[in-house]
Amino acid sequence: MKSSKIIPFLFVLLIFACSDSNSTGNGEEENLEPSLRNSPTFPVGFAIQQQHLNNGNYVNILREDARSLSAEYEMKMNILYPSSSGINYEPINNFLEYAELNDTRVHGHALIWHSSTPGWLENFSGSDSEFESIVENYIRDIVSTYKGRIASWDVVNEAFSDGSGEYRNSVFYQKMGETYIEKAFQWAREADPDLLLFYNDYGTIYDQDKYLAMIRMIDDFQDRGIPIDGVGFQMHVSYNFPSLEAIENAVQPILDRGLMVHFSELDIRVNPEGEQVDFNAEFSNRLTARVEEIFGYYRTIPGQYRYGITFWGVKDDDTWLRDFWQNQNEWPLIYDENFQPKEAHQAIIDMFAD
Ligand code: XIL
Repeated sequence: MKSSKIIPFLFVLLIFACSDSNSTGNGEEENLEPSLRNSPTFPVGFAIQQQHLNNGNYVNILREDARSLSAEYEMKMNILYPSSSGINYEPINNFLEYAELNDTRVHGHALIWHSSTPGWLENFSGSDSEFESIVENYIRDIVSTYKGRIASWDVVNEAFSDGSGEYRNSVFYQKMGETYIEKAFQWAREADPDLLLFYNDYGTIYDQDKYLAMIRMIDDFQDRGIPIDGVGFQMHVSYNFPSLEAIENAVQPILDRGLMVHFSELDIRVNPEGEQVDFNAEFSNRLTARVEEIFGYYRTIPGQYRYGITFWGVKDDDTWLRDFWQNQNEWPLIYDENFQPKEAHQAIIDMFAD
């Protein structure tokens, strides 16, 4: 090729390379203003509900902010496998449709969780080995169907009891014993060798018995070659509890074991004593300070172990805390009820500005 032809050719290549790296996956230019999506050095994500994908206000926020998505409840077994007659793939397909169009990672939550077991399986009257086959087929089916499209799953959620670290007496434990956990991880690995496999739990920052039970399980898995790639700390925290030191002390041994850490369900109670009925400046300061503390610590974790931070909801009235804990006076997220970003949102972006 003559040099007069090479230069325009290189120019065209350059344009392609640039447009590709700036692409959101939907053919449009990415907004290069600092945002939650492009500022932090690790993925920030949100748990959302399927219906939010049809709401332009949510979609605008997600496209601006989210590098990762979790389903708040639609990728749990009671929704995906509502009756013994078959699996309903529709919710997963809907999440993936958005995610693939917008170049967003999908973290699956959760293959096995005692609280989302479908009624028909909870009351299963067949033999234990029939029960186990159902669970095995379910995990293999879901994981292999979405091989290469879902990046990671919480394979087992909340397997240990509060305050004792005993195995939670779930139907899975009753029918299969403690080996249900390792089997679930093995089936998932076999169905998609590239899938990242997480154990996810709450209270593991401050409940020492539960924490040690989880560590024992991880050590046992690693000794015996049972696959596990990471730990999800749910991080349903308050503005002042647990301490940063407690968070660091819980996370470090996970890093020492070569596992990734996901702060998987972050929400921050700013009004744990219920003293006020409005979100005020004091609460905003509490939220911002805590977000800065948590993100500030998380960014010090070596890059290969940072799976990301996922907020459990986008805006304050999404929060499960209001229904589940019957506490209407909580504002634990980084958008207000009117889709307006709170100070904490900007604080995160500012932390990563050069
Ligand atoms: C909650 C959802 O937010 C609710 O919408 C649903 O009804 C119940 O589950 N720990 C978890 C999450 O792992 O799955 C829970 O999500 C919150 C606590």
